[in-house]
Amino acid sequence: MSIELKGISHSYDAKNYILKDFNLTIDKGEIVAIIGSSGSGKSTLLNIVGGINVPSSGEILLDGVNINNLKAKDVESFKLSKIGYIFQNYNLIPFLNVMDNILLPVNLLKKKLDSYKEEAINLLKELNLESKANANILELSGGEQQRVAIARALILNPSIILADEPTGSLDRDNTTNFMKLLKEISIKRSISVMLVTHDLKVTEYATRVIDISK
Ligand SMILES: Nc1ncnc2c1ncn2[C@@H]1O[C@H](COP(=O)(O)OP(=O)(O)O)[C@@H](O)[C@H]1O
Ligand SMILES: [Mg+2]
Repeated sequence: MSIELKGISHSYDAKNYILKDFNLTIDKGEIVAIIGSSGSGKSTLLNIVGGINVPSSGEILLDGVNINNLKAKDVESFKLSKIGYIFQNYNLIPFLNVMDNILLPVNLLKKKLDSYKEEAINLLKELNLESKANANILELSGGEQQRVAIARALILNPSIILADEPTGSLDRDNTTNFMKLLKEISIKRSISVMLVTHDLKVTEYATRVIDISK
């Protein structure tokens, strides 16, 4: 399994605990949907898994590695190479074209771009964006932008995808299309997906649904 959360508790003010002794393991090829009322701690939990928030207590193992025990200098490259992020508002860079957005994590890791360009082209084909490699981000529809975000999340061959309300800005058809693609990809590439949603259409594609407000 690629995500193991053991006894995660979190408080932002050392008084009110948003998460209490939360345990979860996610296998490769699984899609776990986190649901719960607004303010119940869904984004906090996802950010803890992604190493953006450090929990008050508990352990996070990604591919067996405890991220909070990594040396500071290794944390960023570990996160970049293991985790792909997908956001509600796509978070693409508007002044870079599609190809350069997809290659952004490669640039951040200071890896040689050439060897990843072919992979980027393959991803564009897989995501039905073949003709858009040189397009401006702002010329794309929402559904297309979210598919570019999938390609960017996959470029470094991660074992985990984290997505906070990834379909929150998409219409119904694009939501279905996005989830079908994500499901195919997670199975084909043995990726663990943890996503936050409040859309019942999205939970239909999950292998497990966890309500954290309960
Ligand atoms: N950085 C922060 N500092 C202090 N409180 C926060 C911070 N982020 C979130 N919270 C609080 O923690 C609770 C859970 O927030 P969040 O994880 O964003 O919930 P959800 O994503 O389920 O809506 C909320 O009460 C929110 O106000
Ligand atoms: Mg949230």
